[in-house]
Amino acid sequence: MLRTRHTIALGVLCAVAAGCGDDGAAPRALSEAESAALVPADARLAELYENSCKACHTVRDSLAPLTGDRTQWDPRWARGEDALLGVAIAGKNGMPAGGQCFSCSPGDLRALTRFMAGREGG
Ligand code: HEC
Repeated sequence: MLRTRHTIALGVLCAVAAGCGDDGAAPRALSEAESAALVPADARLAELYENSCKACHTVRDSLAPLTGDRTQWDPRWARGEDALLGVAIAGKNGMPAGGQCFSCSPGDLRALTRFMAGREGG
């Protein structure tokens, strides 16, 4: 609980300070090609990602936040990881329930979301 609140507070501070990622580098908008070049480190997750999330999350016109583009993900991340997982499971607007990954467990969806939000392993 305390940790969640801390994360949100940090997110707000970062937005005010015009970006300060966990690694200290300012978030930068990615091109579709840069986004599409990113792959999860774990081979099984990479396969799930290639077969589902990637189709939308590397295409600007889909209106999905681009994989690895922290300028698009950080405001969403600031709402809390559980809120994002809830949307990944239930869907929202153009985001289909489960991200069209029928073999993804909730843990997989969480890991894929972390990866796309630029917070893999962090
Ligand atoms: C058919 C296209 C499509 C696919 C496939 C897809 N997404 Fe999305 N996703 C979207 C769109 C569009 C949005 C933006 C929804 C909005 O905020 O209106 C989105 C948003 C999200 C969000 C942010 C939700 C929020 O409340 O900010 C998460 C998390 C997410 N997707 C996870 C995933 C994961 C994980 C996968 C793969 C398992 C996936 N998506 C596959 C289209 C897609």
